[in-house]
Amino acid sequence: MTMLSIVGTQWGDEGKGKMTDFFAQDADMIVRYQGGDNAGHTIVIDDQKYALHLLPSGVLFPEKQSVIGNGIVINPKALVEEIRTIEQQGVRIKNLYISNRAHVILPYHCYLDKLQEEAKKEDKIGTTHKGIGPCYVDKYARIGIRIADLLNKERFKTLLARNLELKNKEIMHIYGAQPLKFEDIFEEYYQYGQQLKPFVTDTSVLVNQALKQNKRILCEGAQGVMLDIDHGTYPFVTSSNPIAGGAATGIGVGPMAIQRCVGVCKAYTSRVGAGPFPTELINETGNRIREIAHEYGVTTGRPRRIGWFDAVVLAHACRVSGVTELSLNCLDVLSGFKEINVCVAYRLNGEKITYYPADLTQLEACEPIYETLPGWDEDITQCTSFEQLPANAQNYLRRIEQLLEVPLISFAVGPDRKQTVILDELWG
Ligand code: GDP
Ligand code: IMO
Ligand code: MG
Repeated sequence: MTMLSIVGTQWGDEGKGKMTDFFAQDADMIVRYQGGDNAGHTIVIDDQKYALHLLPSGVLFPEKQSVIGNGIVINPKALVEEIRTIEQQGVRIKNLYISNRAHVILPYHCYLDKLQEEAKKEDKIGTTHKGIGPCYVDKYARIGIRIADLLNKERFKTLLARNLELKNKEIMHIYGAQPLKFEDIFEEYYQYGQQLKPFVTDTSVLVNQALKQNKRILCEGAQGVMLDIDHGTYPFVTSSNPIAGGAATGIGVGPMAIQRCVGVCKAYTSRVGAGPFPTELINETGNRIREIAHEYGVTTGRPRRIGWFDAVVLAHACRVSGVTELSLNCLDVLSGFKEINVCVAYRLNGEKITYYPADLTQLEACEPIYETLPGWDEDITQCTSFEQLPANAQNYLRRIEQLLEVPLISFAVGPDRKQTVILDELWG
């Protein structure tokens, strides 16, 4: 086994960063393939907490290669600051490789993200305001600025001047806002590019060399399948492909290279931002889970919406991403609940359905059909094996495996690296 992908199977924040760090212990290379600093990946090691946004969650192993692939959108200012913050926490960033083909997020992307969201009023997506959507729009409109352009002073100057003229028209005439100044961006961002230059390379060449050498490569998705631009709850999604298929295009490897896909989920569901969420709990139970698990966004600090585990969502995610094993986090959070619900189907206009509808009006009309499982009272945060779990917690995990017909590779009983229990060999 040489190349695996880690994907979120819900609406993000499933604990992908934590699992990437965990599986990175036995990997050689860790590669991020989509999204940008809208992601917030938390790793906890002996009470020390690291919040990563653009850096792959393998950087805590400085000897391993960490790669930011071509599918990422990079805010150079955010990346320079993140490197500084992580180094201040005592981690040396040395084996980092940044794709020269990755697109660059500039201040007008963030500004437009905010203006577009404000203009949408009650239809707003609730984006992170990190400029993700506007930057991917430029990429597909073929006017984007790439890392290779940022490093070429004359070319960056020409492209920035051209794009800023276009963007300022939009900013002023559509949104009635103040234009941005070329001189406030050019030199500053050119300098960020120069600081990142030592890390920049053709990362597709690097990853394919590693593949040839049978190195162990871990692809780290950001966001989750339900936020995928094609397979998520469109338009309440992000602007990239978090699914495993996104790893092939976002890294520059053949699709057959990715041999397994670990789908990360929580024992319940969380979502930040707007959009459909059939199992949402707008009640005391939801509030209780939010407080126990400190469910507040790593990137924006927003409270996360909470709901029961939704097997319809998971089945959809497993299918479109080709999930070969599941990794379930936050089992500890459910301790103390007398009963735990799992959504096994939806009721739509009196009919039972087990697929996730594409039509948002139908989705909004879906009512979850729950199976109720008995809970457990014990504190499980120190459990180090499946057998140590209370019988009802074991049954909960077994039922999820059964519903999804995908085996569990791990479960976790707390945020720390050592609170993950592995059930099978990942790289076997
Ligand atoms: P990511 O975006 O998928 O990497 O996930 P985030 O880091 O945004 O959110 C996951 C949150 O859950 C973080 O605060 C983690 O520290 C926390 N977490 C992860 N696994 C567990 C677990 O097993 N139990 C508990 N209580 N918290 C966990
Ligand atoms: P990680 O990698 C959870 C959500 C935003 C919003 C929508 C679009 O930490 O799991 P965007 O800024 O991407 O245009 O916002 O997507 N979103 C996330 N939610 N976790 C994330 O990343 C997210 N990244 C974006 O809240 O609803
Ligand atoms: Mg997150």
